[in-house]
Amino acid sequence: MCYLITLEGGEGSGKTTILNLLAEALEEKEFEVVRTREPGGIDIAEQIRKVILDRANTAMDSRTEALLYAAARRQHLVEKVIPAVQMGKMVLCDRYIDSSLVYQGFARGLGMEEIYSINKFAIEGYMPDLTLYFDLDPEIGLSRIAKDEDREVNRLDLESIKFHYQVREGYQLLQQQYSNRIKVINAENTIEEVFHDALNAVLTFIETNKNNS
Ligand code: TYD
Repeated sequence: MCYLITLEGGEGSGKTTILNLLAEALEEKEFEVVRTREPGGIDIAEQIRKVILDRANTAMDSRTEALLYAAARRQHLVEKVIPAVQMGKMVLCDRYIDSSLVYQGFARGLGMEEIYSINKFAIEGYMPDLTLYFDLDPEIGLSRIAKDEDREVNRLDLESIKFHYQVREGYQLLQQQYSNRIKVINAENTIEEVFHDALNAVLTFIETNKNNS
C-alpha cells in the first residue's frame, strides 16, 4: 500500500512528534513507512533549508523564499518521495505544498494562486493522497515552542503573532476548499488524544482506499 501522507499545521502543533508515533504504529501493522520532512529530507534540500531558515537572512525577498521552498520540494520529491512510493512504501512527510500555499501564498500575501502555479511546475501534479492538518490557537503553539529548549528558533518563528494567526486562517480556508483530502485534527488536545485522532484518520483513509491502490 503506497501513499503520500502529509502533516501540516502552525508552529508548535506537535505534528513532528505525531509523525513519529504514526510511523511506529503503522510499522507495527506491517506497513513499510518512510519518514521525511520539508524543507529538507535529503542533502540538496537540507542545504536549501539552511539558506531559507537562517536567521541572518533578514534581507530575503518573499518571492525568493517561495522559489527556494519550491526548489527544495522538487528535489526532495524526485529523489526521495517518488522512488519510495514506487517501491510500495507509505511516505509520511512533515509539510509539503500546503505549507507554501498558506505561509507564502496567504500569510505573506503573495496569493495562493501564484504560489500554486510555481509549485505546479515543481511537483507536476504530485499531490498528497491524504493530509492531516493539526489545528490550534497560535498562542498555544508558540508557548509550547518557548518551553522546548532543544528546538532551534528559525527565521519564521520570529514572525509576529499576527503572521501566525494568518497561517491558521490560511490552513482553515484550504481545509474547507479541499475537505476530501485535508482532515482536521484538534491539536489543542493531549498528545495521546491527538495521536489517536491522527491514527484513526489514516486508518480510515487506508480502509476506504485499499481497493484503489
Ligand atoms: P521547521 O523547523 O521544520 O518548523 P516546523 O517544526 O514548524 O515544521 O521549519 C519549517 C518552517 O518553514 C516553518 O516555519 C514553516 C515554513 N515553511 C514555509 O513557510 N513554506 C513551506 O513551503 C514549508 C515547507 C515550510
